[in-house]
Amino acid sequence: MGSVTHTLEGPLVLGIESSCDETAVALVRGDGTIVAQAIASQEAEHAPYGGVVPEIAARAHAERLAPMLEKVMTEAGVALDDLDAIAATAGPGLIGGLMVGLVSAKALAMAAGKPLLAVNHLEGHALSPRLADRALEFPYLLLLVSGGHCQILSVEGVGQYRRLATTIDDALGEAFDKTAKMLGLGYPGGPAVERLALQGDPKAVTLPRPMKGAKEPHFSFAGLKSAVLRAVESGAHTPADIAASFQQAAVECLIDRLNRALDSAGPFPALVVAGGVAANRTVRAALEALAAKHAMRFTAPPLALCTDNAAMIAWAGCERLAMEGEAFAGDPLDFVARPRWPLDPAAETVRGAGVKA
Ligand code: KG4
Ligand code: ZN
Repeated sequence: MGSVTHTLEGPLVLGIESSCDETAVALVRGDGTIVAQAIASQEAEHAPYGGVVPEIAARAHAERLAPMLEKVMTEAGVALDDLDAIAATAGPGLIGGLMVGLVSAKALAMAAGKPLLAVNHLEGHALSPRLADRALEFPYLLLLVSGGHCQILSVEGVGQYRRLATTIDDALGEAFDKTAKMLGLGYPGGPAVERLALQGDPKAVTLPRPMKGAKEPHFSFAGLKSAVLRAVESGAHTPADIAASFQQAAVECLIDRLNRALDSAGPFPALVVAGGVAANRTVRAALEALAAKHAMRFTAPPLALCTDNAAMIAWAGCERLAMEGEAFAGDPLDFVARPRWPLDPAAETVRGAGVKA
């Protein structure tokens, strides 16, 4: 029982992710090996509502997590005793789902007598590029673009994040999702908009580039979303042209804001993108070009590590174990899940930013 067949180095950390609509479990080693993982999406449950319904999400996590944990551990031939720590997303996110994952991790940590690691979901995204690219060193400029967040961060070390920009209204993934809904493409919208945009002309529809050239460092996508709605309602354009023009406007906003961040806080040796929107090929290509222009190394995790997953949570746990050293006892078992949990607590609160998971 519990014999670990692989012979790789470093501690073995179990990771649990349940902050939004993916239930995920992973085993990751300190050397960056993903030993095993499983992910169950709740897309089908939420699709009829065009977005994530918190109560449905919490119930689905509660039903799926324990069997997934058992399956991943069994198939990897890993027993509780083999683990060096148990990491779970403790925020930010939907409270019901967070509680399911965190409480499960606490129970396992207690049963195994191993440290509990309460991981910030955003830290998972922020450090995931180092799991994908073991040569990536601090500091790096991180564009974190997901369904709930749109931030530019200076990642200076494990636990050391300086927020350079955030959104004052919608996150970019949210704008993709809402554009998809307006175009009748269903949920989740990002991949559908990207696919449709391939057949459209990015110059066909005149859309705004909110905040472009602004002195403030932040993002805004609400105006772009409203303009998309007007374009849809006008009936003057094909859905493909609207999708392509929206994507083009969004990408130009990203590049403009990154240039602004580089002006104020640069130079950086590397540019890194993480979060669900990093799966978008047009976004990636534009970022790659920007990095080349500024002689920065460019890293984007593989698609499966960009969207929500548990390997990034286990990996954030590995990074923390490595930083804290042997004597580290982990987070307290009464650690409370945090629906809101900024990565950079010193950053001023920007209205509307980070309200969602
Ligand atoms: O990081 P993530 O899985 O979950 C959050 O923490 O939010 O990001 C999900 C978001 C959704 O808004 C989804 O539409 C967007 O990422 N997304 C994309 C693409 N794939 C996922 N947006 C644009 N293009 C894509 N290919
Ligand atoms: Zn995420």
